[in-house]
Amino acid sequence: MQATDVIIIGAGAAGLMCAFNTALRGRRVLLLDHANKPGKKILMSGGGRCNFTNLYVEPGNFLSHNPHFCKSALARYTQWDFLELVGKHGVPWHEKKLGQLFCDNKSSDILDMLLAECDQAGVELRLDTRIDAIEASGHGYSLSTSAGPLACESLVIATGGLSIPTLGASGFGHQVARQFGHHIWPTRAGLVPFTLTDPQLKNLCTELSGTSVDCYAQCGGQGFRENLLFTHRGLSGPAMLQVSSYWNPGDTLEIDLLPGRDALQWLQEAQAQRPAIELKTLLAEVFTRKMAGLLCECWFESRPLKQYNPPQLDEIARQLAAWQLTPAGTEGYRTAEVTLGGVDTREVSSKTMESQKSPGLYFIGEVLDVSGHLGGFNFQWAWASAYAAAQYA
Ligand code: FDA
Repeated sequence: MQATDVIIIGAGAAGLMCAFNTALRGRRVLLLDHANKPGKKILMSGGGRCNFTNLYVEPGNFLSHNPHFCKSALARYTQWDFLELVGKHGVPWHEKKLGQLFCDNKSSDILDMLLAECDQAGVELRLDTRIDAIEASGHGYSLSTSAGPLACESLVIATGGLSIPTLGASGFGHQVARQFGHHIWPTRAGLVPFTLTDPQLKNLCTELSGTSVDCYAQCGGQGFRENLLFTHRGLSGPAMLQVSSYWNPGDTLEIDLLPGRDALQWLQEAQAQRPAIELKTLLAEVFTRKMAGLLCECWFESRPLKQYNPPQLDEIARQLAAWQLTPAGTEGYRTAEVTLGGVDTREVSSKTMESQKSPGLYFIGEVLDVSGHLGGFNFQWAWASAYAAAQYA
């Protein structure tokens, strides 16, 4: 039986961050993962450039049944702390938009940085390791693994959520939490594209596949001004991913395709100034010609503006500024960036991330019921929760 101070299961964003920070306290750390490579999601993230944090991190950027839980960890390890680490390693970065910080080069810069820190701090990393069973034993935990029996004082669960099983995701962390008496909030895919079944809408999306438009999308009392992307399968792009985290089956989305302008006033002015212009020609001043034509085919008859009476103009404005649609579903965990729900944070210390059910057991990262908005917030949660646990594990 190999005994060590701390075992961390999951060599993703949170596990790697926790590993070297724990080892820097002089603890012997063994980091295990069932995958053949560490940090696969880091490599895939941000379209290959890893949106590793955000300049404007606020507790309001996170969804949880317990919204106060994330505050302490986020305050103790901030985006500026992570930027200092990035700076120490000379990783070049830039702000893309809305405070979102990306690598100039590749996501592997962030993974290499974390691996270098682990190496320097003396973390032992073991990949391709299956964990078969965990038991509380004396003052710690014993594990049966494909690499033989292991024992530790502190056990950190950093196995993430259910999103993208092909990148190593599993429900393992939830299972462990359940085994030690924790409540798990039901999970569902977040930051995920919508699918549609309505034939007319599907046709619109297929025809416009690849087209991106600025919009203000709302669902469940939350709204986001971002781009909407039409795809062959339905609706994607940052605006849709953001609202998907607030969407439940059956909910209707409201999309303003003319954000920042009063649609009715715009139509009325155009009618007064250019009565002979066709509706689709006017719409082509805002959307692509193809989209303007398709919207007219789908929703309104395109006529010269002077031929619409006030209620008809009102209806056109309503359709453009408050397009109501009910998605059939989402693409699910296959493409979701995060998992909503997870280990109930009311049973975990917000200061240390330690289980209140089983001393010496810690949960960090996405396995917990804390999910961020799109824009680097999920990684910031991984870094911050990992750092918190690393001070105590
Ligand atoms: P993470 O999933 O990173 O790591 C979990 C680790 O545990 C994995 O290495 C896995 O193999 C291992 N594991 C799982 N089950 C196990 C078991 N049974 N035994 C042993 N090991 C096990 N966020 C962001 O802020 N900016 C971004 O740009 C992106 N981009 C992005 C793109 C894509 C495609 C996805 C899927 C996700 C993102 N995200 C993101 C979200 C972000 O990647 C995610 O929130 C963090 O990686 C979560 O970190 P964790 O360490 O908690 O889990």
